[in-house]
Amino acid sequence: MQPKTLTDFRTTFGKDVYKGFTDHPKHISSKYFYDERGDRLFQEIMDMPTYYLTRSEYAILEQHKEAICEHFIGDGDPFNLIELGAGDGKKTKILLRQLSGHGAPFTYQPVDISGNVLRQLEQSIRRELPGVSVKTNEGTYFETLDLLNDSSRQRKVLLFLGSNIGNLLHPQAVAFMKAIQQLMKADDSLLIGFDQKKHPQKILDAYNDPEGITAAFNKNLLLRINREFGGDFDPDNFLHWEVYDPESGTAKSYLVAKIKHQVWIKDLDLRVSFEAWESIHTEISQKYDDATVAWLAGKAGLRIIEQYADPDHEYKNYLFKKNGDESNME
Ligand code: AVJ
Repeated sequence: MQPKTLTDFRTTFGKDVYKGFTDHPKHISSKYFYDERGDRLFQEIMDMPTYYLTRSEYAILEQHKEAICEHFIGDGDPFNLIELGAGDGKKTKILLRQLSGHGAPFTYQPVDISGNVLRQLEQSIRRELPGVSVKTNEGTYFETLDLLNDSSRQRKVLLFLGSNIGNLLHPQAVAFMKAIQQLMKADDSLLIGFDQKKHPQKILDAYNDPEGITAAFNKNLLLRINREFGGDFDPDNFLHWEVYDPESGTAKSYLVAKIKHQVWIKDLDLRVSFEAWESIHTEISQKYDDATVAWLAGKAGLRIIEQYADPDHEYKNYLFKKNGDESNME
């Protein structure tokens, strides 16, 4: 798939900023975190002692790479390994190394909304795993479903790691998984990483570090709007606020205005007024349990084949196949 042009992206981003700041309550999607600075801050987040997600999934993949890759290789016919939201690919490389060690015939197709991170990923794979053929694709999850359609001749193995799915509300996650399922064939597989419900303090700590890296990551949205649309946000007028609801399993991030003030976004011809303590909702990071994942799978017409967990069951990767029997599906 051709990457969307910069103008297309700018137009959608601009529309979403306009809509998000004229809605009540205000909001802006977490998918816009990832410009060059956002990518760098997310790298720092993944290295934070409190951000357990990356380390947990890394350990799971390291421990179960043999079994996972056996599923992927199947009968040994060639496949496309498509990764949605690949990022720096640090965890994926465990699987790439394992697969190429077995001489498995596959093409790695990472997808990401950040062209910047994709270029770095492609370079590092050419350097570290020269035997692996890579085809990068820049775009959002939903846009890249076309890609799944286009390359439908080959068997597909899909990766959606890092609990990226947590950025989707349940109805969106169902729609997304269902759209993937509809493009899957019987022998295609899908591996998804789901962060699990756990002690609420541990979750809050992961999204609210004392060094303020997560706050800087969240506030980067405002600075990005300044850079790309000539806004005059002062990030010091906002604080990063994290909440976790143990009932729904939803962690939510906000930016909260500390004082009443106005912001001017020149290129969008938009003046935004903030009351003191008014919020901008920026991200959800959904946490799951087995019942919820089973429910999602059922709704999407998928079947859980296998699950892999870390020793404390704080994070799990589930392997799905298309469900032959779709009678339970909505
Ligand atoms: C990349 C979506 C998995 O929600 O845990 C990290 C992003 N936000 N700290 C997450 C994030 C704040 C992350 N995901």
